[in-house]
Amino acid sequence: MIELKVHHRDGTDTIKAEENAFLLQVLRDHGYEIFAPCGGKGICGKCKVWRKGEGSVNSCVHRVTESMEIVLPDKREARILVEQHNHTLSIPYLPGPALNLSGYPHGVALDLGTTSLVFYLVNLISGSVVETRAVLNPQAQFGGDVISRISYTSEKEGGLSELQKVILNSINEQLDHFVEFVGISGDDIVKVTISGNTTMLHLLLGVDPLSIALAPFIPNFTGEQILNGKDLNLHCHPDGEIKVLPSISAYVGADIVAGIASIKPSEEWKNYIFMDIGTNGELALVTPGSIICCATAAGPAFEGARISCGMGGLEGAISAFDEDGYTVIGDISPVGICGSGLIDVVAYLIENGLVQADGLLEEDFIVVPGDQTETGNPLSISQQDIREVQLAKSAIAAGVNILLKHANLNSDEIDKVFLAGGFGNYFNTESAMKIGLISSEFSGKIIPLGNTSGTGALSALKSIHFDDVIQDLLKRTKYIELSDHEDFTMDFAMNMMF
Ligand code: FES
Repeated sequence: MIELKVHHRDGTDTIKAEENAFLLQVLRDHGYEIFAPCGGKGICGKCKVWRKGEGSVNSCVHRVTESMEIVLPDKREARILVEQHNHTLSIPYLPGPALNLSGYPHGVALDLGTTSLVFYLVNLISGSVVETRAVLNPQAQFGGDVISRISYTSEKEGGLSELQKVILNSINEQLDHFVEFVGISGDDIVKVTISGNTTMLHLLLGVDPLSIALAPFIPNFTGEQILNGKDLNLHCHPDGEIKVLPSISAYVGADIVAGIASIKPSEEWKNYIFMDIGTNGELALVTPGSIICCATAAGPAFEGARISCGMGGLEGAISAFDEDGYTVIGDISPVGICGSGLIDVVAYLIENGLVQADGLLEEDFIVVPGDQTETGNPLSISQQDIREVQLAKSAIAAGVNILLKHANLNSDEIDKVFLAGGFGNYFNTESAMKIGLISSEFSGKIIPLGNTSGTGALSALKSIHFDDVIQDLLKRTKYIELSDHEDFTMDFAMNMMF
């Protein structure tokens, strides 16, 4: 066995590792969380740790051959969107029979996202939200996006139960916190409602997600799942109801279903588009008679995974940029550029003629010189970064076009464009229109809604009537598979231009 000294924010540990083991795996086995968005394939370069005497190394491909000293990167605080939106459907408050399990019943609504988990603790007598908490999804150490995590479950023996275990542990940690915070017992948590994308829900329930990643992309389940607390060993009432909300397809999950269902009908928006942009872009066009939805593989550009200086929406990320300068999340020197900052930078480059309509960038653009960054290295945008942005934005724009064609509508017949999720909440819509991520024809109609998935999970927690709303929505919904759609390739190519 080889000895390693590990320096981290809270001190120094000495650990032992097998000779030739990969450093990432060793650190992970000892409980350190290392961000590894490409799932340890050596592609993304985001799993770097500092090896004394050698400099920074990609831990996923670095083997332990001799005793070494490792410095872990500081854990950064994430900017996680928890706000519910204020266009929420109003339905009668009726949490259902689980209420009878305790004299002081509480419930938890959970938005189980790929990047973050958002929990809402609700007093089920009054219906009020007692506490909201958000944590990063600990599965990120196994891959930043759903495909990396699915690969992990299929390539690593025991990988599926490992991923299920870390997510259940994280949920239980939060349930324990709630119990302590409010001074209740675990048995007083009698109902938990969960929304999330289809892969996250498979991983939560320990169901093999591999078919989600392979054509024809058929998940093992999409319907609502009802379990008890004891089925998942959750730290709540053993007979408490665990309700996993229904999905539509492999890439249009319960987070989208819950989000659309949470929006109140209005005279103001007869026809509207619902967009949730992340690694995938989930899109729905809602009209009075039908809902047409699709998902596009937008690529990880807006999550920072394949951008040279990219990072998630964490402390140290440049989140906004214009000719007057940049904004950094947290009060520290910049470390990288997150999705909203990236959109601003590309919009600036287009506006100033530094990027051509076909995406050509003459030379790397320095966003922040090295003397202003935390690492001393400049933050810049390369030609390859621009190409990644083109791929992502054209996939979304082409998806919207296909929905409009299927509904026989023109852009000017769309009353509103609702943006769901953290990314949609933070990016500058003007910049998004400049780069062609969102059509400029939607100018003045865009409304960021915040955490729609969490809002939907809360509605499901508070009222059994929300089930009817969801069932009605599912009956009216048609899913379009874009990967074999005849118009998609052409639309995608057309939208690559700036
Ligand atoms: S390069 Fe190591 S996780 Fe991506």
